[in-house]
Amino acid sequence: MVMRLTGEEAAHTDAGRTYVKRLDTQAGREMADHVAEQWPHARMHFVLRKWQLWTWMNAIAVNAPAVGRQVVVLGAGWSAMGIDWAHQFIDARIWEVDLHHQRDKEALVQQLFPVAANRMRMIEADLSNLGTLLSGLRANGWRADQPTLWVAEGLAYYLDPNRFAALLRAALTFNPSNRAVIEFGLAHHLMREDVRARTAAYHGYLAAQIGLPALQSFDPSEFCLRSGAIPLSWADPSSMELARNGRALMFTSPDDSGMRMAVLGPA
Ligand SMILES: C[S@@+](CC[C@H](N)C(=O)[O-])C[C@H]1O[C@@H](n2cnc3c(N)ncnc32)[C@H](O)[C@@H]1O
Repeated sequence: MVMRLTGEEAAHTDAGRTYVKRLDTQAGREMADHVAEQWPHARMHFVLRKWQLWTWMNAIAVNAPAVGRQVVVLGAGWSAMGIDWAHQFIDARIWEVDLHHQRDKEALVQQLFPVAANRMRMIEADLSNLGTLLSGLRANGWRADQPTLWVAEGLAYYLDPNRFAALLRAALTFNPSNRAVIEFGLAHHLMREDVRARTAAYHGYLAAQIGLPALQSFDPSEFCLRSGAIPLSWADPSSMELARNGRALMFTSPDDSGMRMAVLGPA
C-alpha cells in the first residue's frame, strides 16, 4: 500500500525509481485508494518520511562516512531505500530485514541491478527476536564492531514498544558511532483531540485490513529512557514540509500530526 500511494516519490535515484515501477502493487490497490480518499495526510506522511530519512541518512554519511558504509534496514518491506543507497554509495553494504517478501525482493533486485545486488543482503527474520536478528546479520557478513546506521521506517507501529526499545538499545550499543533513524506514532495522550480521533480511525482501518489488534504508539521520553538512546534530531510533518517545500502545505504546526521522526545515538 505504501509503495502504491507514494509511487516514484518513494525513491531517490533513477535505480530506485526503476525498481518502484517494476513492483506489482495490485494487492494494495483497494487499501491505497481508500486511504488516499479518507486520509490524504497519510499519503503526505509517507512522502515526507521517505524524504526526511534520505536527507538525514545523507547528512550522517557526509559527517561520518564510516557509519554510512554499513546500513541495516529494519522492517524494509518493499522499500526502495536500500536500492537507492547501494547506488549512491558503491562502498556501502546494506542488510534489509523483514518477516516477509525478502526472497522475492532479492530475486527482483538481482534481476534489475546485479552489481548493486552484491552490496545488499535480504534477510527474513522476526525482529521481536533479537538473537535471531543478530545471528542472521552476522551470518550475512555484518560486522558488529564496525559503525552501523540503523533505519526503522514504518516499523514501530508493529512491534511492542518494549521490544522496539530493546532492539534500538542493542543496535546503538555495538559502536559509539552508531546511529538510528526512526519513524513512529506519538502516544495517543500526546496528540491533539482531533488528530487523535483521525489517527485512531486510520489505524483502526489499517489494523483491521492487516489483521492486527492495534498499531503501537510511543511516548518519546519513555522510549529514550528504555532504549538508552539520545535523540540528536527530531522532526514532525510541519518541520519536514517547511524544510522540503519551503512552506507548509498540509501541516502548519507539530500538533497537526502524530507522526514523528528522530535520529538517535547511544547515550
Ligand atoms: C508499514 S511497513 C514499512 C515498510 C518500509 N519500511 C517502508 O516504510 O516503506 C512495516 C514493515 O514491517 C514489517 N514487520 C512488522 N513486524 C515485523 C517483525 N516482527 N519482524 C520483521 N518485520 C516486521 C512488515 O512485514 C512490513 O514490511
